[in-house]
Parts: sequence; C-alpha cells; structure tokens
Amino acid sequence: MKQMVDMIAAKADQMEEIIRHAGEVMKSNSPAAGAVHAKDGIANFVTDFDVRIQKYLIGELSRMFPGCGFFGEEETDGNDHNTASGLCFFIDPIDGTTNYIFGYHHSCVSVGVSSEERMIAGFVYNPYVDEFFSAVQGHGAFLNGQRLHVSDRSLEEGIAAYGCARYNEGDTNALFQVAKELYLNSLSLRNGGSAALDLCRIASGSNVAYLELKLQPYDFAAASVIIREAGGIIGQVDGSEILLDKPCSILAGTPKAVEQVKQVCRNFCVCTC
Ligand code: IPD
Ligand code: CA
Ligand code: CA
Repeated sequence: MKQMVDMIAAKADQMEEIIRHAGEVMKSNSPAAGAVHAKDGIANFVTDFDVRIQKYLIGELSRMFPGCGFFGEEETDGNDHNTASGLCFFIDPIDGTTNYIFGYHHSCVSVGVSSEERMIAGFVYNPYVDEFFSAVQGHGAFLNGQRLHVSDRSLEEGIAAYGCARYNEGDTNALFQVAKELYLNSLSLRNGGSAALDLCRIASGSNVAYLELKLQPYDFAAASVIIREAGGIIGQVDGSEILLDKPCSILAGTPKAVEQVKQVCRNFCVCTC
C-alpha cells in the first residue's frame, strides 16, 4: 500500500496535467442537441464529451500505470475493473452532466485512485473557476496548491448541501424529509448538481455537510480522500464505511455536523441503501 501511495504522490503533477487538460476539453465545448443522449431512467444523460473525456483519461492513465483497473461512469473500451496491478482509477469524466448540458458552468472532472480496495488519492477539477482539488493519503488535501482544512462548524453555523437524481426516485420522500430538517437547522441549503464539487466544498470549508441517499463510487471516490485528508468525515448515513463496488448512501461533513445529520437520519428511519 505505502509503495502505491508513494508512486501516486510522485506522479501527482503529471496526473494533474492530464486532468486539467480533460477539464479544458469539457469547458471549451458546449454539447449541441445531437451530442446529448439518454441513458436508463428519467433525466439520465450522457454527452459525446463525457465519452471522449473518459476515453482520453483511460488512455493516458493506462500508459502511466500499466495494468491498472478502471471504474468509469461511461461504457467505453478499457473501462475494466481489473486490478491486477492493485491500482484502480474511479473516473467521472463529467460530474454535473445536467449542469453541463444546460450551461450552468458548474461541473468537474473527478478521478479517484484505490489500492487494494482502499481509496488512496483523489483529484477533482472545475475548469470554470480553475479550482483543482487534490489529495494523496498522508500528504494532506489541497486546492490549487493551498492546504485545506475542514471547518469545525456545526450544522447551525454553516451551509449544508444534498444531492438527488431523478433516476433514483425511490428515496424521494425520505430524502426531502431530511433535506427539510437540514434547511431548518442550517444557515442555508444547496444542491449544486455535482456531488464531487459539493463534497470538495466540505474540504475547503464552504459546506458543513453533504447528504445523498444513493451515489455511485465514481461520484464520491476522489472527494472522499480530499475530505479525509482535510480532516473531515465521509461514510454512509448510518456511519458505516463507503462502498467501492456498488452505490451507497453518503453522509459527509465536519465532525460536529455529521453527528447531527446522522441523528436526523435516525429520527426519520433513513438507512443505507
Ligand atoms: C450526478 C451529480 C449530482 C448527484 C447525482 C449524480 P452526473 O452525477 O453528481 O449532483 O446528485 O446523484 O448522479 O450524472 O452528473 O455525473
Ligand atoms: Ca457523477
Ligand atoms: Ca458523470
């Protein structure tokens, strides 16, 4: 494990260059109607740029780390969860695809790295505001090179965020009951449309908590390392460990806010999916 962490730390600058380039591809293209395609479920989209960026990242990363595995959101060649080398990259080529399609300019490229089924590094780039979040296990979390620390605020003292997707409608009632409590017990409530960016904002001190009842590993993998290296907490709503092989609930935040939101979830009998 330590050997893998050291290798990623040594190649972090090279990875940053690749991920920044992927972000520039996203930013410099707006998907025209013909480039947007429907996936399974309501309002679940993929654009030609999601696919193009994932292919680019898999190509570059497999050249840098031969034999590594990939768990990417889109169906492309090379997206093969084969971790023969011990390393696996969790890729969300565009997190915030709906934002992207509708010109919100709030989306990112997210790349997490695991070794032996544990997350060891994360990189999240929002090219619209040139914010590059990064963390390697034991080396701290950074935003454009500046060290990050979560705040020590409680729920009442900060902004809370939550996420949801129309294609995961099963949890709607439970989610909005809890979201109402977050709204009533915080300074304000947000749904940014990019789970990775809402999570990174815990690391940078802007958000005190983030809740989503069903997220895929490639949505939160990179941000999980960034939050932990900044001193924050990320787990499932019942406090159990995040899952890397299937979707799970996510509750992240400052130590104080996470305890408070956990209690709200218990009150409404919201448990892990
Ligand atoms: C979505 C975003 C959204 C979250 C959804 C995700 P996508 O990812 O992160 O904020 O609430 O659950 O699926 O589809 O834009 O990559
Ligand atoms: Ca996503
Ligand atoms: Ca995506």
